[in-house]
Formats: sequence, C-alpha cells, structure tokens
Amino acid sequence: MEKPVTSKTLVVFIILATTFLYIYHNYRSTENFTKFHKKQHATSGWPKKLTSPNNSKNQLNDTRTSARTELEQGKSAKLDLMQTLVGLSQKVHEVLFNVTEQYNIIIWEPPFGAKSTNHLDQSKCGACDVSYDKAKVKDLATKAIVYHFNELRLNKMPQTRRSDQYYVWWSMEGPPALRELRGMKLSEYDNVFNLTMTYRQDSDIYNPYSTAADVLQNIQSSGSGDPNKDLDQLISKKNAMVIWIVSNCGATKGAQTRMKLVQDLINAGLPVDRRGGCFPKNKPAPRGQQLEIISEFKFYFAFENSYHCLDYVTEKLFVNAFKGGAVPVVFGANKSDYQAVVPPNSCIYVDDFTNLQNLVNYLKYLDKNATAYKEYMKWRTMKPEEMPNYGRSTKLCQLCRVLHGINVDNLFNPFYSEKYSSIPLFGHSSTPRVVTSLREWFYGPLSKDCLANY
Ligand SMILES: *[C@@H]1O[C@H](CO)[C@@H](O)[C@H](O)[C@H]1NC(C)=O
Ligand SMILES: *[C@@H]1O[C@H](CO)[C@@H](O)[C@H](O)[C@H]1NC(C)=O
Ligand SMILES: *[C@@H]1O[C@H](CO)[C@@H](O)[C@H](O)[C@H]1NC(C)=O
Ligand SMILES: *[C@@H]1O[C@H](CO)[C@@H](O)[C@H](O)[C@H]1NC(C)=O
Ligand SMILES: *[C@@H]1O[C@H](CO)[C@@H](O)[C@H](O)[C@H]1NC(C)=O
Ligand SMILES: *[C@@H]1O[C@H](CO)[C@@H](O)[C@H](O)[C@H]1NC(C)=O
Repeated sequence: MEKPVTSKTLVVFIILATTFLYIYHNYRSTENFTKFHKKQHATSGWPKKLTSPNNSKNQLNDTRTSARTELEQGKSAKLDLMQTLVGLSQKVHEVLFNVTEQYNIIIWEPPFGAKSTNHLDQSKCGACDVSYDKAKVKDLATKAIVYHFNELRLNKMPQTRRSDQYYVWWSMEGPPALRELRGMKLSEYDNVFNLTMTYRQDSDIYNPYSTAADVLQNIQSSGSGDPNKDLDQLISKKNAMVIWIVSNCGATKGAQTRMKLVQDLINAGLPVDRRGGCFPKNKPAPRGQQLEIISEFKFYFAFENSYHCLDYVTEKLFVNAFKGGAVPVVFGANKSDYQAVVPPNSCIYVDDFTNLQNLVNYLKYLDKNATAYKEYMKWRTMKPEEMPNYGRSTKLCQLCRVLHGINVDNLFNPFYSEKYSSIPLFGHSSTPRVVTSLREWFYGPLSKDCLANY
C-alpha cells in the first residue's frame, strides 16, 4: 500500500514540512483556492532543511491552540497556516523519530477474501505490523483490529476485547451497496467500533480511492519532467470524443439511472463509445489496456453507481479519468463533495446542467475549442502540493499514526471542531473513542439524499 522511500530524510521533510497546507475548508471553492494559494507564496519561512526537531513545546502548544481556536471559529480559510503547519510538521517528525514501540494491526478477515500486502513506511506512519493473523489478538502490542464490512459478523468477533484496542469499521462501498444490495442493517453495531475507516472525509480514518495529490505525483513521476510538454503530447494523441466503460448495468438504482442518462445523452446527439461488460457487442476495453484506450478520448464519463452519496468518488474518477488522461464528466456525489477532492477546474459536472441538451452542446463546444478544452487539463502542470488533501495521511498509515498518538490528520476532517476537539493533536484521547451508532453515521441524515434515491 505504501511506496518505498528512497531518500528517507528528504521524503520525510517534503512530506511533513508541507503537510496540512491544504485543509479541506480551503477547497470549498476555486476562488478560495486561488486566494489561499497566493497568500501562501507571499509568506516566507519554510525551513530549508529539517535538521533536528524543534523541541520548543510552548511554541507548539501555541500553534496548536490557535489552529484549533481558528478552526472552531470557522476561520480556517483565513488562517495563516504557514507557521502552524511548520510547527506541527516538526512535532510529527519528532514523534515519529522517537518511536520505540511497534504495534500490531490485524485485519480480521481479508476484504472480499483477497489478502494484500500492507507495508507501512515507518518514517511517515510509525511502526506498525499489519497482518491477517488472528492469533495475535491477545498480544499486548495489538492495538487495532480492522473489520471489513462485508465479512463482518458480530458472533465471529473476538470473545473478549481489551479497552486499549481500537476496533475499526472499514468500508469502501457506499450506503446503497450495504443497505440495498446486502440488506445490512448495521443496528447491531452500536458502541462496538471505535473508529470508522471509509472514503468519507469525515471518517476517523480517511480511506479515499486516491487523492488528487497522489494522482498528480504519479502522473508527473512517470512523465518526461516537463509537464507542459507532456500535456500537449497527451492532447495531440486524442482522436475521439467520449468514452464510457461500465460493467455494473443496473445492480443499484444509481447504476440504472446512469444507464438511462447515457442513453439520453446519445439521443440528444452526443457520440459515446460505450464499452465494458454491459456492452459485450461493442469493442472491448480489456483491463490492462483501459488507461491507454481512455487517453485517446477527450472525455471520460466517470459516472458512479450511487447518486448523491456523501463523498462517494471512486477509481472511475481518480484512475480511469485522471490517470487515463481524459477530462471527466462526473455524476454521483454532490458537486461540493467533488470540489473538495479534485484538482481545480478539472471536471464537468452533470449536475450543473439543468438540461441535458446543454451538456451535449457544451461538450461539443469544448471538442471544437482547443483552448477551452485545455483549461480542464491545466492542473496536470501544477504541483502536487497545490492539490486538495496534500499531505493528509490515509488508510492504515493514518491508523498507525493514531496508535502512536499522532492525530494531526484530524485537522483535515470537515467536522474537526465538532468531532475532535477533545482529542489532542498529539497524544491519546483521555476518553474512549466510540462510534455510538454506526447505522446513524452511515445511513443517517448525511445519507438522506443517497438513500432517498431508492
Ligand atoms: C524553534 O522554536 C524557537 C522558540 O519558539 C524559535 O525561536 C525557533 O525559530 C524555532 N526553530 C525553527 C527551526 O523553527
Ligand atoms: C497550552 O496552552 C493553553 C492555552 O494557552 C494553556 O491553557 C495550557 O496550559 C498550555 N499547555 C501546556 C502543556 O503548556
Ligand atoms: C523524543 O525523545 C527525546 C529524547 O528521549 C525526548 O527528550 C523528547 O521529549 C521526545 N519527544 C517526544 C515528542 O516524545
Ligand atoms: C447535496 O447538495 C444538496 C443541495 O445543495 C444538499 O441539500 C444535500 O444535503 C447534499 N447532499 C449531500 C450528500 O451532501
Ligand atoms: C475558446 O475558448 C477560449 C477560452 O475559454 C475563449 O476565450 C474563446 O473565446 C473561445 N473561442 C470561441 C471561438 O468560442
Ligand atoms: C473502544 O470501544 C469500546 C467499546 O465501546 C470501549 O470500551 C473502549 O474503551 C474503546 N477503546 C478505545 C481505545 O477508545
């Protein structure tokens, strides 16, 4: 899951010194993004090299307190994060540098039966051994057990549990896939879990399908070193307009909706090359060749199988569209959910068009106007640190940090002030952390639109 480090010190510095710059709140609009970004460049003060951690506890306490106060007052967009974040990154560095204990994280059952290797980079995440080894449950070093929703059974959880162990509930699927497809009520899990780990930004542990920063880093590291040249080259090889690859033809209501949506767009005069399992008679798009195929098209339909499910944005966008190199037309989450995680000016939102004919006309206009089209690709020439959630630890890496008492990633959480004010940015919560109602959290008010669409 984690990439190996080649130059430890350098990577630690780059990652930590720039950590926390791009807090969720700053991405509410492109306008804020631009303002914030300008301000950041106007401020100097980055340490050139992190030689030793700054042990000044008072300074850290001050920056921490002021960060929290500002966030609580909803002023985060105006906050001069520079000093705060440098302070935090030094402290993170110090804590990680000092780590002596190794903890175990057990994944109770492999998700959908598939085991993967989970090596965590100690310099970023802390020292954690991740395994599927149930025999380690009694080991005092076992501090977290991760339960993937699909294999989870209340009566197959450990007989006894220690209060210092976190039980983590893990899902990459949205509410319809659990409630409608699998009939999961989740009501039997009141007060069972301590932490949630999902694609939702307000999860205790954020597990996105990817982040814009990772995607961009990936694109640029496999490029020529000149992103402008790479972009021109990418655009020059495009020889077709729209592609849609789909294999879930209607298992969820959202999947039926998107099928009809694409048909309506075609009826309104848009040429769409439809491929994948739902269109066996059309040209194939074999897995290993999908990105290459997508790169020849100007637009990719990144249409989710669920509509207006909070933050439900999958690899269709991050991998197929962004890595594949086509401009995504998106349908699924709310526009504001997308904007919080995608590069600036990178997507075309179906929700923006009250009338599908207007969307068809707009895509045709972009097809003919190279300048306007390229504007949706400009982000590929930006810097990864200019992307949302840059520096945010995710998945098991964040979990490992929590076990080591590093909770600074909470600052990225949109509900930071309500949810985490009692949890110190460093150190352990003095009160137990408990998910009182998993059902309410996952199916409750925040999923109203998502489940009402059934
Ligand atoms: C460390 O903290 C001290 C005391 O606040 C401060 O004067 C100094 O500039 C800090 N060092 C760095 C590298 O930030
Ligand atoms: C941190 O700062 C707060 C507010 O300024 C203060 O009340 C608290 O005692 C300080 N804590 C430490 C450990 O210095
Ligand atoms: C790191 O270890 C040093 C030396 O033992 C200690 O002085 C310092 O307080 C530790 N820092 C943290 C953040 O634990
Ligand atoms: C989506 O946006 C609508 C309108 O702004 C809002 O009422 C709704 O609560 C949002 N849904 C989600 C899941 O964020
Ligand atoms: C093409 O797009 C550019 C950038 O959005 C715009 O300034 C220009 O007017 C457009 N040209 C035409 C012919 O619409
Ligand atoms: C986890 O939740 C259990 C059950 O509610 C609770 O007893 C325990 O104290 C919590 N553990 C932590 C580390 O917060």
